[in-house]
Amino acid sequence: MQSLSSVALPRIIQGGMGVSVSNWRLAKTVSLLGQLGVVSGTAMDTVMVRRLQDGDPGGLVRRALAAFPFQQWVKPVLDKYFQPDGRHDQPYKRIPMPSRLGDTASQIMYVLGGYVEVFLAKEGHSGLIGVNLLTKLQIPTLGTLYGAMLAGVDYVLMGAGIPREIPEALDKLAAGETASLKIDVTAWTATEAARLQFNPQEIADEAQTLKRPSFLPIIASNSLATLLARKVTGTIQGFVIEGPTAGGHNAPPRGAPVFDERGQPVYGERDVVDLEQIKALGLPFWLAGGTGSPEALERAMTQGAAGIQVGTLFAYSQESGFEADLKRGVLERAARGEVRVFTDPKASPTGFPFKVAEVEGTLSEAEVYQARTRVCDLGYLREPFQTAEGRVGFRCASEPIDQYLAKGGELANTQGRKCLCNALMAAVGQGQVQKNGDHELPLVTSGDDLERMDRFVAQFGTQYSARDVVAYLLGDTVLPEPKNQQLVVGG
Ligand SMILES: Cc1cc2nc3c(=O)[nH]c(=O)nc-3n(C[C@H](O)[C@H](O)[C@H](O)COP(=O)(O)O)c2cc1C
Repeated sequence: MQSLSSVALPRIIQGGMGVSVSNWRLAKTVSLLGQLGVVSGTAMDTVMVRRLQDGDPGGLVRRALAAFPFQQWVKPVLDKYFQPDGRHDQPYKRIPMPSRLGDTASQIMYVLGGYVEVFLAKEGHSGLIGVNLLTKLQIPTLGTLYGAMLAGVDYVLMGAGIPREIPEALDKLAAGETASLKIDVTAWTATEAARLQFNPQEIADEAQTLKRPSFLPIIASNSLATLLARKVTGTIQGFVIEGPTAGGHNAPPRGAPVFDERGQPVYGERDVVDLEQIKALGLPFWLAGGTGSPEALERAMTQGAAGIQVGTLFAYSQESGFEADLKRGVLERAARGEVRVFTDPKASPTGFPFKVAEVEGTLSEAEVYQARTRVCDLGYLREPFQTAEGRVGFRCASEPIDQYLAKGGELANTQGRKCLCNALMAAVGQGQVQKNGDHELPLVTSGDDLERMDRFVAQFGTQYSARDVVAYLLGDTVLPEPKNQQLVVGG
């Protein structure tokens, strides 16, 4: 494939923010301005079926599904999930959680979810669109990537783990061949690794080749950059280098864990990435984490970066998926300098530190967290483990404690764990109503920059567009109108 250094590179990557904070609308807006718009690929199957159950306003999901090239997979999904009149506060129907490493057909919902979001983001223009996935969430990865590739995705970005097999998987999927991924199974004793296979020919009517997207791993250390650039099968096209101030999951600090007086992990010199070493790898790179300002963009460029990846500023723009009232409430408090962000070492069942904005009425509050009845019904963050029978089972440190212990989990792992799956769906207005009548409540993640957003809000107000963010970062007060496109993307 063409090397990225020979093509014009975007200066701004709009960070992929799950779940559905970076939705197609945000990514399309950024892409139309000539930058890289990225959709989150996390839990897109659930996002898709929840939109369908909420009546699919504007017919967007149905329009995207009508364009899916293999229609035999579409009808059963519409029959099961589309509710023309919405739900009227009834519980959402769930997609059954996988109970084993399934075959290719069992991954179809991931394919459709990835396809719909990228299709809508790319519809009607030729700008660049990327998809972001978390490496640790392994089961949906191949299906989501294939769906995104069927819709013509240009970039794949993956952090939260070591995506060492992804370059080769992208090559295989692009060639219409079976891709596979080693699944990390706790206490696995068999000599052969557990692998998940995905054969495109079982989805497509016939083998077809697809564009191979550029792959940008998101990394936080020189050793990982070197490993991915030099020692994997298949190629990578650049890096996003993300520091510990970034929103979402963070890489844990190196060395023995040290915590500050609030209980947050402390990062030190060893966690600083040496950009000279990165430059020596000869690939373009973007800097992420607290780089959301024109000054930081300029600094990044002088350090040899192609640009920056920005999350937090885009997360609160009008186009993002955060639920509107939640977004406005957080920004109003940010404008008064009253929001704090806590790097929670325990909240995420992945064990990675997770940034939590302290917001009233959300799971950041101890009482709200304590009042929730544990339930695991989405299961994206479950950990595969070897069962007593030697098979692959799944458990989550945030599930009901007795169930987790019965699966061999340790009590200590359950303390302070939050159900990110349900809470992040609630943050984008798709919270579940549980069987006992409880409404799932949100949890808001943001970068440390949220604490310093007062200046930005003073200039742009609490109802700004992603277009304002791009203009601010590039130092342009007025951006040119994008050609042949309306920026207010409907639906
Ligand atoms: C709300 C939110 C959700 C995020 N979710 C993800 C995610 O799912 N995957 C990921 O790789 N990065 C995620 N990030 C990180 C962003 O993609 C980006 O790298 C980061 O926000 C950049 O730092 P900044 O927040 O200081 O701008 C998230 C960030 C935010 C603010």
